[in-house]
Amino acid sequence: MLNVSSLLQVEHLNVSFATQTGEVAAVRDVSFSIPESGTLGLVGESGSGKSATSLAIMRLLPPQARDHRQDHLRGSRPAGSGLMTKCGAFAALASA
Ligand SMILES: Nc1ncnc2c1ncn2[C@@H]1O[C@H](COP(=O)(O)OP(=O)(O)OP(=O)(O)O)[C@@H](O)[C@H]1O
Ligand SMILES: [Mg+2]
Repeated sequence: MLNVSSLLQVEHLNVSFATQTGEVAAVRDVSFSIPESGTLGLVGESGSGKSATSLAIMRLLPPQARDHRQDHLRGSRPAGSGLMTKCGAFAALASA
């Protein structure tokens, strides 16, 4: 259910990559929300999908990626700088 006070809400995000040897599932059914005044750290082993999650949020996945979403990426300021700043920081953290 959408939390209207969330800066960003991700529900059931799935990302896969088409490769020569088949489809690679990079992100499977990931859901989380970031509250207006909150932060979120995403931790996982190498290859667990941190970068793919961030790229999907920012809609920067490469062409061979399939981003299965149900249009549930929502923010209270979806086109605002606050969301992009938050996502940028999120991506930087995920890519570290
Ligand atoms: N362009 C791509 N083509 C095919 N597979 C990819 C591509 N990018 C990522 N993957 C695969 O998707 C999965 C998730 O990768 P991702 O880069 O999101 O992991 P990560 O958690 O950010 O890892 P790391 O901590 O090493 O940065 C891995 O299995 C990876 O091999
Ligand atoms: Mg990464």
